[in-house]
Amino acid sequence: MGDELLIQRTAAGFLTLDEVPPGRDLWLMATGTGVGPFVSMLAEGSCWQQFDHVVLVHGVRLGEELGYRQQIAELTQGQPRFHYVPFVSRETVPGTERGRITHAIADGSLEQRVGLTLTPEHSRVLLCGNPQMVRDTIIELKHKGLQKNLRRKPGQILMENYW
Ligand SMILES: NC(=O)c1ccc[n+]([C@@H]2O[C@H](COP(=O)([O-])OP(=O)(O)OC[C@H]3O[C@@H](n4cnc5c(N)ncnc54)[C@H](OP(=O)(O)O)[C@@H]3O)[C@@H](O)[C@H]2O)c1
Repeated sequence: MGDELLIQRTAAGFLTLDEVPPGRDLWLMATGTGVGPFVSMLAEGSCWQQFDHVVLVHGVRLGEELGYRQQIAELTQGQPRFHYVPFVSRETVPGTERGRITHAIADGSLEQRVGLTLTPEHSRVLLCGNPQMVRDTIIELKHKGLQKNLRRKPGQILMENYW
């Protein structure tokens, strides 16, 4: 309460659904507070028309950092094609995966848990959060044939470093 809030005059960035090439499955992968933009996308709602499946993967250090859980549950209520996969890396929390998102992509356990495969044909992946997580996740996704999306060369991966 009472904190000063600074807002830039012009909004800029590429982490919006408008920038995502058509596909079947939307994978939203975040660490820490990087989940914020994805919660806004769920609230805005066009993802449900644009994609058959929406997967939100959120990695945090401690269970208490899994923010927005209630809001995510409310926004996705009645959406059978929504999958929420929380990861906690530094403690064991019931109902969450233990470890890092990158490891679960590499060993196939994330795809197994969700029941969808990460492929260039079907998957569109948005990444937001820790810059090193973003870099390392891109490496793992490239092993599966996915590429960064560029305006001059469409791909499957869009990202935003959160700091
Ligand atoms: N300036 C900003 O806007 C801003 C925003 C957010 C955070 N921060 C700063 O960043 C620091 C850390 O933020 P945080 O609490 O969100 O923690 P974090 O260190 O970003 O960790 C969040 C989750 O990401 C995982 N992770 C870290 N590096 C990874 C990598 N290379 N590949 C895959 N997963 C990775 C962590 O796993 P491990 O536990 O295994 O490391 C943890 O599960 C804070 O001290 C904060 O000051 C700054």
